[in-house]
Amino acid sequence: MKKIIAANWKMNKTLVETKDFFREFKSKVNAQENCEIIICPPFISLTEAANECKNTNIKIGAQNCHYESSGAFTGEISAEMLCDIGVQYVILGHSERRKYFFETDEMINKKIHKALENDLKVIFCVGESIEIREKNAVNEFIAEQINSGLKGVSKENLRNVIVAYEPIWAIGTGKAINSESACCVARFIKKCLADNFGSETAVLYGGSVKPENANEFVKSSDIDGLLVGGASLKAESFAEIIFAVR
Ligand code: 13P
Repeated sequence: MKKIIAANWKMNKTLVETKDFFREFKSKVNAQENCEIIICPPFISLTEAANECKNTNIKIGAQNCHYESSGAFTGEISAEMLCDIGVQYVILGHSERRKYFFETDEMINKKIHKALENDLKVIFCVGESIEIREKNAVNEFIAEQINSGLKGVSKENLRNVIVAYEPIWAIGTGKAINSESACCVARFIKKCLADNFGSETAVLYGGSVKPENANEFVKSSDIDGLLVGGASLKAESFAEIIFAVR
């Protein structure tokens, strides 16, 4: 199976910077068939990014969507709107959305259902805080996030879900988890999905991934790819991660 390498740009890059990125990135990874590439820019750049990626092997994702189809939700974006402009993926349940925007497992579950109803593929993020890790309660915590986040999702629909394991303490800190521990959690996530949902789901690792450590994580069959934040903002370093995975 091809590895999946996804970029989460978070709240970074203007439209002009987005165009510049794609010009440089496409020239570097042109005809790279070794992995699935997904890039998730902010909402305002999605149309441009989707146009840039027509006839390439790069897919575009959003970083959020609302759980209702339409209506009086000032400032929000629906799954249908994303689909309409050629977006194929959406990141849901990111720890920054949980922390700064108070997203609960229940809200995330509703968003996942709505995204899947609209034929978007979901990158569903889970991951523990340092306190949970120090209490040796990682598996229980992750199992709860998975079971609540994916409640009511059919086995059929789970084919369109990728789980991203992102330990909160490893995000943006430069301190990635060691690859053995990441594999251990990835295996646990797969077991959880197999036991509770009867599904085989791809699991990505995210948290301080860079060109130097990318291959460490993906060389094991437990980890199906990467979700990259900071190191995906420069075309050069994101391309290096893709080359490292070759
Ligand atoms: P960093 O790669 O910057 O640690 O961010 C990871 C992340 O949150 C991706 O969703």
